[in-house]
Amino acid sequence: MCGIVGYVGEREAQPVLINCLKRLEYRGYDSCGIALLGRGTEVYKGAVRIETLERNLQPNDSRTGIGHTRWATHGKPSESNAHPHTDCSGKVAVVHNGVIDNYLQLREQLTSEGHTFRSETDTEVIPHLIEKYYRGNLEQAVSRAIVDITGAYSLIAIHADRKELIVARKESPLIIGIGDKENLVASDVPAVLDYTDRVMYLEDGDIGVITKNDVKFTRNGKKVERAEHRVPWSIEEAQKAGYDHFMIKEIHEQPRVIRNTFAGHISALEPEIDLGIRRDLDFSNILILACGTSYHAALVGKHVIERLAQIPVRVDIASEFNYSDTVLGKTWVIVITQSGETADSMRALKKAKELGCHTLVITNVVGSSATRIGDDVLYIKAGPEISVAATKSFIAQLVMLYLLAMARASVDVRSRGSLIAELRQLPNKVHEILDREGEIAERGKHLAEHENVFFVARGINFPVALEGALKMKEISYIHAEGYAAGELKHGPFALLTPDTPVIAITARDNTYETLLVNIKEIKARESPVIAVAEEGDDEIEKYVDFVIRVPKVDPMFSPVVNSIALQLLAYYTAKERGCSIDTPRNLAKSVTVE
Ligand code: G6P
Repeated sequence: MCGIVGYVGEREAQPVLINCLKRLEYRGYDSCGIALLGRGTEVYKGAVRIETLERNLQPNDSRTGIGHTRWATHGKPSESNAHPHTDCSGKVAVVHNGVIDNYLQLREQLTSEGHTFRSETDTEVIPHLIEKYYRGNLEQAVSRAIVDITGAYSLIAIHADRKELIVARKESPLIIGIGDKENLVASDVPAVLDYTDRVMYLEDGDIGVITKNDVKFTRNGKKVERAEHRVPWSIEEAQKAGYDHFMIKEIHEQPRVIRNTFAGHISALEPEIDLGIRRDLDFSNILILACGTSYHAALVGKHVIERLAQIPVRVDIASEFNYSDTVLGKTWVIVITQSGETADSMRALKKAKELGCHTLVITNVVGSSATRIGDDVLYIKAGPEISVAATKSFIAQLVMLYLLAMARASVDVRSRGSLIAELRQLPNKVHEILDREGEIAERGKHLAEHENVFFVARGINFPVALEGALKMKEISYIHAEGYAAGELKHGPFALLTPDTPVIAITARDNTYETLLVNIKEIKARESPVIAVAEEGDDEIEKYVDFVIRVPKVDPMFSPVVNSIALQLLAYYTAKERGCSIDTPRNLAKSVTVE
């Protein structure tokens, strides 16, 4: 986790670093710091948010520096544990994202050699190793230091005697922003978009020397070239554009995102879907691996693929798959990850490859780690998602899974044509939900008074209940549980009281009648019930206290409209409670530790 940045050029480094760090806050924000090259290496850091660090800084004319925003893994958030970390001489400073597995052993060895440690972090061994190996050439010292390290890292090192940034990467993301007489380094592209749209992606094992006018890479001691890419996003896309929070801005972007996701895959004339991935694979079943919100998308995908393509689909939480002794026969493995960096998903992807499976990665981030491992890649094209709570990337993942299922569907051309027509209508349907934002906001205000809430559904909407509960808990801090409606009576009924609202997510499919029975059972326990139900479903009014209306769609697409209603509900509940919506406590967007 954590975000790292570096700058070398002609501007004052300090404001550039602070600005870039603000754009990386979604990666962690329990402490932060910068190091500037001037007369020596000057370090400013603390267990504070970036705005506070910025307020406490004095002007500084250094043109070279590094910065870090932290999500604690080793040692609590504190000034001494905040990055950058330095060596004994105070000349070397390092920022790091990842986990050094053998840090305790290295720390013991370095201590016995006379090094003094000031933090509880794994990172601190890196500047000390660099100090140990430094003979006037920082690149060589970093190259030698990382031989001793096992684990994952992206890092930037500076030395008081050298106007350069040395970067290295293994299993944690790192990009270079190429400017005119300046270059930047960052964990992620949005951090550098204020300065450049030209970027290079480091590969695992790369070491780079970044100066004002030059960027050079080596790998295993040999020079390597890395291609320059133009970023297809504008800076405006990575900004709030007048909304109070990135989350609500990203919710509102969803009609356009849906169009982006299917654009290029659906032919204008034929009812055909072309995903541009291999079609001649020999497999009898599919395994989908993912974490968090992406896992919920995978669960919806299972329903859709099994229904349309009649291929058995298993879905595993990536971190659990990593410990299973599962035997994979002719299995096609799909890994879904918005960031393309989640450590649990990366490990699962590698394991699936080692087991000989053909792998497909569904991701949002071009050049991310997952794209370099997967055999095939599908981009969901949701644009940069800054809010920690995933919204538009979830909907784009669903759309990609619909496309995948439809591409493999054993349905006739007419049915495929009507499914495609329905998919094309989705952006308009989403606009209809967004038009009801005010009503949903009112409901959110009421919910904000409660401390416990259940989300229940059946069938294809059961994952929507899980996702609705996840959104609610992560941003409003209300204890929210998603349940298969049929399971409530097997335990959670004990928790139902008049103060425990239950949100029932409905669709007019074969689950509807049984869900009504479940709603009656819940009402008998005096819990207030809010239904999410389609326009024209008057029946539901008889059984519930309030109805959040969504537009009528084919029940197979109901997870899209239902989820967006629940995103709005979670947002306005959290807003009423005054929560830190875009950066919820203890969470981070890109979780690069297992
Ligand atoms: C973190 C984020 C979640 C996300 C999960 C998986 O926990 O806070 O929003 O769903 O990681 O991320 P991925 O990038 O693999 O989809």
